[in-house]
Amino acid sequence: MFNEKDLTAIDLTQEATAEEPLRQYYFMAKLRELVKTLSEERGRPLLVYNLVVGCQMNAKDSEKLLGILLQAGFVETEAEDGADLVVYNTCTVRENANQKVYGRLGYLNSLKRQNPDMLIAMCGCMMQEPHVVETIRTKYRFVDLVFGTHNIYKIAELLYLRVTTGKMVIDILKDAKTIVEDLPAQRKYSFKSGVNIMFGCNNFCTYCIVPYVRGRERSRKAEDILKEIRQLVADGVVEVMLLGQNVNSYGKDLEEPVSFASLLRRVNDIPGLKRIRFMTSHPKDLSDELIEAMRDCEKVCRHLHLPLQSGSSRILERMNRHYTKEQYLMLVDKIRREIPDMALTTDIIVGFPGETEEDFEDTMDVVRRVRYDSAFTFIYSKRTGTPAASMPDQVAPGVVKERFDRLLKLVQQIASETVGKDCGKVLEALVEEEDEHQPGFITGRLSNNVMVHFPGGRELIGTIVPVRLTEAKGFYYLGRMEPYKE
Ligand code: SAH
Ligand code: SF4
Ligand code: F3S
Repeated sequence: MFNEKDLTAIDLTQEATAEEPLRQYYFMAKLRELVKTLSEERGRPLLVYNLVVGCQMNAKDSEKLLGILLQAGFVETEAEDGADLVVYNTCTVRENANQKVYGRLGYLNSLKRQNPDMLIAMCGCMMQEPHVVETIRTKYRFVDLVFGTHNIYKIAELLYLRVTTGKMVIDILKDAKTIVEDLPAQRKYSFKSGVNIMFGCNNFCTYCIVPYVRGRERSRKAEDILKEIRQLVADGVVEVMLLGQNVNSYGKDLEEPVSFASLLRRVNDIPGLKRIRFMTSHPKDLSDELIEAMRDCEKVCRHLHLPLQSGSSRILERMNRHYTKEQYLMLVDKIRREIPDMALTTDIIVGFPGETEEDFEDTMDVVRRVRYDSAFTFIYSKRTGTPAASMPDQVAPGVVKERFDRLLKLVQQIASETVGKDCGKVLEALVEEEDEHQPGFITGRLSNNVMVHFPGGRELIGTIVPVRLTEAKGFYYLGRMEPYKE
C-alpha cells in the first residue's frame, strides 16, 4: 500500500478533529473497528468491489478510495457477486456512459436482494449532477451512499455514518476549495502511476460537462507534487503521468504562480524517475516555454495528446475553444520543428450543433495534414446544462454517423501508415504486462506511446529494455529484445 498510515496511535475515545487529513485517519480507524466486528460475525473478511469508468482522473480517484478502504480493513475482490461493499465510480462525459449506470444499478439491486447486508456506494462525476442524485434518491432507494468528486477523501467517514445510522447518506459538494493531501492509495501498477497536478477545469467548452462536475481549476503546490513523485519512485515507479484537464494552465492559481514548463523541468530532475507523460494539453495554452521544456527534458516522452475537437474555425468558436484551424496547424508545425520525433494524438468530436459538410471537411483536412499517430473520435453527445445542448441546429444522427465513419476510416488509414515508420529501429520499451494473446511474449510501451510485443518473461515487467522493431502491424509492432548497450 502506498503511503500507508499508522492508525494504531489514534485515540478513538476522543471526538474527531475538524482538521484534514487527520479527521479522515480518525474515521479510517473507526471504520476499521466496525469492519473487524462485522468480519468476526460473518467469519470472513469484508470484501470491496470497485468499478471505475471514465478518464485517468477517475482511475486515480479510485486508487485513493481503495487505499482508504483497504486501510479500514476491507479486502479487494474482482467480483460484485459476494462483495460486502460495491463502490461505483462513474463518468458522465457522454450520454452512453451515463445510461449504463442505471442498468448496472438494476443488477446490483438483484444482488442485494440475495444479500441484504451488501452496501452500495455511488460516486464520481455523474453524482455531481443534481438530476442524477434525485433519481437515485427517489427510484433507487437501495443505494446506501452517494458522494461526488470533491469529497472522495471522506469515504471512511461517510461509510461510518451510513453503517452507524442505518440511513442512506448523500453528501455532494458543489465545489472544493482545499485539496486534501497525504491519503493512502492502492496503486494499480507497481511501476507507473498517475499524479494529479491540478483538479477541475475553467474552460467551459460549450459541449463539455467536466467543468460542472469537477469544479474550478485548483493546482496542487509544486512541492506536494514533487514529494509525491519522489515517494512513488522510492516505491518502484519509473513512469509518471501528470494529470489535469488542462495541464498547460497549471500553477496560475497558486499563491506563488509556477508554470507547467517549470514544473516539468523540476520533475525531470528527480533521480530514479525514467519517464514523464502528461494529459491533457489544451492547444490554446501551449506555450513556447513548454515546447522548449519538452524538447530539453530527456525524460519527457515523445508523445503529445493535443485535442483538436474540430478542424473548422467556425465550429471551434462555437465550441469556445479559443483557437482557429490555422493557429492549431501553426502550433503543430512549431512542435514538429522543435521535436521532430514527437508523436501526436488527438480527440475529435463529430456532429457538434451546426456542423456542415464544409465544417466537417475542415476536420478531415486537419487530419490529413497533421497525420496523427492515433485519434479518439467521438459522436457529439448532448449534455444537459451545457450551452451546446440548447443550440437549435443539432445535426441529424444519420448525417453524423456517416461523417463519423468517414473520419474513422481516414484516421485509421493514416495511423497505420505513420505507426510503421520506426520499423527496423531499436527503441526503448517499458515492459507493462504479459501478452494476453501469445504465451511467452510481453508487451512494452515505447516513448511515443505505441505498443510492441516481443518474446520475454514476466520478470521484465516494470523495466525499460531496448527492443528492435521487426514488424509493423498497423497500430503496434512486433519486435525482439536487443542486448543492453552500456
Ligand atoms: N480536458 C480534456 C478532455 C476531457 S474529456 C481536453 O480538453 O482535451 C475527453 C474528450 O471527450 C474530449 O477531448 C472530447 O473530445 C470528448 N467529449 C467531451 N464532451 C463531449 C461531448 N459532449 N460529446 C462528445 N464528446 C465529448
Ligand atoms: Fe471539457 Fe474543455 Fe475542460 Fe477539456 S478543456 S475538460 S473539453 S471544458
Ligand atoms: Fe468522465 Fe469525469 Fe473524467 S466525466 S471523462 S470521469 S472527469
